[in-house]
Amino acid sequence: ETCGSGYTNDVMDHFQNPRNSGHLVDADGEGKTGDPECGDHIVISIKVRNQRIEDIRFLVYGCAAAIATTSMTTELAKGKTLTEALNITDDDVANALGGLPENKLHCSLLGPTALKNAIQNYYDRISDFKKCLMYQD
Ligand code: FES
Ligand code: FES
Repeated sequence: ETCGSGYTNDVMDHFQNPRNSGHLVDADGEGKTGDPECGDHIVISIKVRNQRIEDIRFLVYGCAAAIATTSMTTELAKGKTLTEALNITDDDVANALGGLPENKLHCSLLGPTALKNAIQNYYDRISDFKKCLMYQD
């Protein structure tokens, strides 16, 4: 059995041409996650403007499905409000790619989880900023 068998054309497309790969140096939020079982891990960075995800990038160490699902996560999230982005699920990602082989379904959790962590990190930074202001005279 060949590596990557059972992948849809959309999975192969996102694997071979990942969308929004890279890292935003001036990110407003950054989130990481990994799966200890397979060792795959990703980082998502976001730029937030008017409560929307204005820009998004990802870095990945992982299999074809991890790359494709994270790429799709960034496509689904771009331009969305933070609330909408928080509601993106692993099912949404897998469905948007036309499905995944059973043993690769867990890969679709990476993107939405790192995205939630990035949004949480954005909120944390804002509250830190508020705290800092209170200590200014
Ligand atoms: Fe080959 Fe993950 S796609 S090991
Ligand atoms: Fe575990 Fe892909 S094999 S995330």
